[in-house]
Amino acid sequence: MRVVITGGAGFIGSNLVHHWRARYPEDDVAVLDALTYAGRRESLADLEGNPRLRFHHVDLRQPERVDPIVGDADLVIHLAAESHNDRAISAPLPFVETNVLGTAVLLEACRRHDVRRLHHVSTDEVYGSLELDDPHRFTEASPYRPRGPYSSTKAGADHLVRAWSETYGLPATISNCGNNFGPFQFPEKLIPLAITQLLRGRKVPLYGDGRNVRDWIYVLDHCAAIDRIAHQGRPGSTYLVSAESELSNREVLARILQILGKSEEWIEYVPDRKGHDRRYALDPGKLKAELGWRPEYPFGAALERTVEWYQGHPAWWEPLAFGREERRD
Ligand SMILES: NC(=O)c1ccc[n+]([C@@H]2O[C@H](COP(=O)([O-])OP(=O)(O)OC[C@H]3O[C@@H](n4cnc5c(N)ncnc54)[C@H](O)[C@@H]3O)[C@@H](O)[C@H]2O)c1
Repeated sequence: MRVVITGGAGFIGSNLVHHWRARYPEDDVAVLDALTYAGRRESLADLEGNPRLRFHHVDLRQPERVDPIVGDADLVIHLAAESHNDRAISAPLPFVETNVLGTAVLLEACRRHDVRRLHHVSTDEVYGSLELDDPHRFTEASPYRPRGPYSSTKAGADHLVRAWSETYGLPATISNCGNNFGPFQFPEKLIPLAITQLLRGRKVPLYGDGRNVRDWIYVLDHCAAIDRIAHQGRPGSTYLVSAESELSNREVLARILQILGKSEEWIEYVPDRKGHDRRYALDPGKLKAELGWRPEYPFGAALERTVEWYQGHPAWWEPLAFGREERRD
């Protein structure tokens, strides 16, 4: 099979490329990635020279360059996006261009070439924010209520995928997932930022009261879910992906401090992000019942593996580490 993975040099994308190479050595994989600040060929360095992996340094917003790559594919898995909330708040237009326009360009290429399957990777943030004491979790039937520039552009992309599926019969699936963590994550997001700051002997910034809750998942569990949905998901369907590990940002930092043998004095509370969503929580019942997916990495063990990975790969993150003035979550 010929598989195109957009955003394959990013965090989840590079983990997915590794997953695919190990699981389907016979497949030809083409990575399409613009190599923005978040895309790094170093994350695929161990696969350089693999005859069944090709890298295309291409921006999604260039239809004439996207078209021939998609023209060759049986399956397209779409992860390329601008993905970071703080950047979206300070400069939203690249998010509109890549997440909305870029997705439309990809969809048109898929339509033109009658691609047999497109899987679009999206986020739980499209559903808006829950209160901490709300007994409900998001389901596939929850209304879209994005509240920020990142989530609204991802929502726009989801709507486009559905529109191309309904209008043109493009066989597409969508997954919406919670907060991923694991190897190769750019140290602007909470977990890799905390680990790399602490490894450098610096304090970790924490927004507001630190009680914002996220639905955490180890990236390899997410990759296995994408694999399952792309192969067996019903065209036209959406699946929520969650390991059901709801933890506040403060709890996550406490666990990292514990792994590294440090006290809570290493946390520095900073003013809250504008429009900071309080809580996300997803019900993965449909994915489990229909496709038999189960997460395999408990949060604590996966967090330890992640800390060990950053400890063992300073050459990957040291050139990227953010200073205190660049606070991210
Ligand atoms: N990280 C998470 O917790 C999370 C959770 C749910 C969903 N998602 C979604 O998963 C996908 C991947 O997320 P990630 O965390 O790996 O993101 P990332 O920012 O680490 O990687 C994004 C990749 O897309 C590439 N890219 C950006 N703009 C591009 C363009 N115009 N053309 C081609 N390539 C471009 C970048 O170079 C990079 O390699 C995104 O669609 C994101 O919305 C992420």
